[in-house]
Amino acid sequence: MEKKELYDRIEKLRKTIEYHQSRYYTFDDPEISDAAFDALKEELEGLEKKHPNITSENSPTHRIGGVPLEKFTKVKHEYPMLSLQDAFDEDEMKEWVEKLSNFLKITKESLEKKEYYCELKIDGLAIELIYKKGFLVCASTRGDGKIGEDVTQNISTIKSIPQKLMQLGTIQIPDELIVRGEIFLTKKELERVNAEQKKNGLKIYANTRNLAAGSLRQLDPKITASRKLESFQYDIVGDAEKQFSTHEEKHKALASWGFTTNKHNVCAKDINEVIKIRNNWEQKREKLEYEIDGIVVLLNDARLFDSLGIIGKIPRGAIAYKFTPREATTIIENIRIQVGRTGVLTPVADLKPVSVGGTIITHATLHNADEIERLGLKIGDTVVISRAGDVIPKIIRVIKELRTGKERVFSMPKLCPIDGSKVVMNGVFHQCSNERCGARHKESLYHFVSRYALNMRGLGAKIIDRFLDEGLIVDAGDIFSITEGDIKVLERFGEKSAENIIKEINQKKVVQQARFIFALGIIHVGEETARVISERFPVSSILELIKKYPKIKKEEWEEIQDVGPKVSESIIKWFQSEKNIALLQKFHKYGVSIIPSKKKVGKFTSKTFVITGTLEGLSRDRAKEIINMFGGTISESVSRNTTFVIVGENPGSKLKRANELNIPILSEKEFLKLIK
Ligand code: IVH
Repeated sequence: MEKKELYDRIEKLRKTIEYHQSRYYTFDDPEISDAAFDALKEELEGLEKKHPNITSENSPTHRIGGVPLEKFTKVKHEYPMLSLQDAFDEDEMKEWVEKLSNFLKITKESLEKKEYYCELKIDGLAIELIYKKGFLVCASTRGDGKIGEDVTQNISTIKSIPQKLMQLGTIQIPDELIVRGEIFLTKKELERVNAEQKKNGLKIYANTRNLAAGSLRQLDPKITASRKLESFQYDIVGDAEKQFSTHEEKHKALASWGFTTNKHNVCAKDINEVIKIRNNWEQKREKLEYEIDGIVVLLNDARLFDSLGIIGKIPRGAIAYKFTPREATTIIENIRIQVGRTGVLTPVADLKPVSVGGTIITHATLHNADEIERLGLKIGDTVVISRAGDVIPKIIRVIKELRTGKERVFSMPKLCPIDGSKVVMNGVFHQCSNERCGARHKESLYHFVSRYALNMRGLGAKIIDRFLDEGLIVDAGDIFSITEGDIKVLERFGEKSAENIIKEINQKKVVQQARFIFALGIIHVGEETARVISERFPVSSILELIKKYPKIKKEEWEEIQDVGPKVSESIIKWFQSEKNIALLQKFHKYGVSIIPSKKKVGKFTSKTFVITGTLEGLSRDRAKEIINMFGGTISESVSRNTTFVIVGENPGSKLKRANELNIPILSEKEFLKLIK
């Protein structure tokens, strides 16, 4: 990036992040998801780290939390409400433990073997509850961590939060007690409320966290009461916490005083178990009635936890071990048109490669022109890309605030990129007016991967259709650009089959020249013609092919046996087309290389065979192979150049023609004798 561009990007990222931070914390009405927000923050942090001279005290990377709204009474938290650092994978978790071990001056191994308390990280909002002599006296939101809002009245509508504590066990209820927890609602409740909101023409909540926040921060407690808010408590702070030697004990005490604690919280015996617990929940999260975005992991030993202290607004001894984000931000590098099996033109976005939900994504379909318009998408835009569960990645919004002015508007072509026919509208879709176009294009791709062409095993018509429909490929060159991540995310594509397909494609990047020429689907250039022209004009790379073939003259082509004017014209036309040369260049770009054809020399050198009828002991393919092996050529039709005609059962007109021209005839047996 150039310096000016870099400054611009940083400045725009800061403004954008600030804006979304206020949408989230202050207005409970975020426009983008946490994951998309985190992705922007991560980009900014990365840039600031790389260019420390541009770091500013005022950067949102140094600040957290929201500013309390004016409408509620403010409450100062006696002990700040902290935030957590995030980890997204095993390595980051182990790094965390290593840092702690350095800090504590004990070995990493011994710290890895300590107990860690694991709690589900509920996607709601944090709440502080103050009890005096067992009665709830104040409930407040987190706000900026130091000052929150008084929501005591609204909290009293939540059944799972006791107004008066109960002495269910032996642990004494302290006179003064500060408890922290999470307020949330179920996914079902979100659906119910949103259906109602829609009916009344009111705003739709993006997720359960927004709804929980929006419901709690209502000036009218009746609205709060009408929403089924729930709550789990997870921490005790202040003097009351001093009596506990582990975090687990706090949970037991909370439960014994009538609070609701999460039954899924467990104490892990070491860090490896923590990793298992998180991975297990990543699989099972959909089964829960509420949303979680990871687990919270705390050193169970309270003394150790306290000795680690706080850095900024984050306790060292705890971490949020989050699930792999299902959203990310990336850049639209290009939009290209893919022509489907029915001739429908689909715009497909080429993305700067990005990891979403654990797989690298490089393309996303844009469906149709309406979708591009709905998103307001331009080439060069920064976008949010989402991949929930196992569905195909989707571009869900454009971050227009990050535009530089260099973005380009995209418009659908007026002519079909495949055959140049006029493009017409069919509902919301653009379609090639040549009805055969899509089918023909599709056939050419089937041909490319077929047995005598590239012979890509496992890449049948069904898979090619799917790749076309998903916008993964436009032409044969694109086959070599597909990544495992691109395939894995398609529904019904297991990891294993994705791996196999990619393996097969990679293997076929080195290809025999004759197969490659045949695969190009040049009209009138069959397998045999491809072989003879490759032998006559061998090349050892695609670049050489691009350089050499368009220069070959008609007479030179026609010197080759079996290449007449029809064939030579077709070859010349093919190599004169800019589109075809661009296709060849694409093959080169994606690493396809050619093994030059060598003319085989043997007893059939310069002999041409024609086969007619069904052979008994040999398949036609095997017979062809044998003839080629001995340096001979196969031709489809009998001419004066034919050396032998091999005749099987039920011969056709070729036998008649051979007799007319006095060409020697061989039975299958005689042919076999010849090669013995
Ligand atoms: S423990 C120092 N436990 O996650 C904060 N937090 O980024 C200790 N959260 O603001 C928090 N479920 O609102 C803890 N079981 C859980 C949680 C949880 C959700 C939220 C909490 C906090 C944020 C931390």
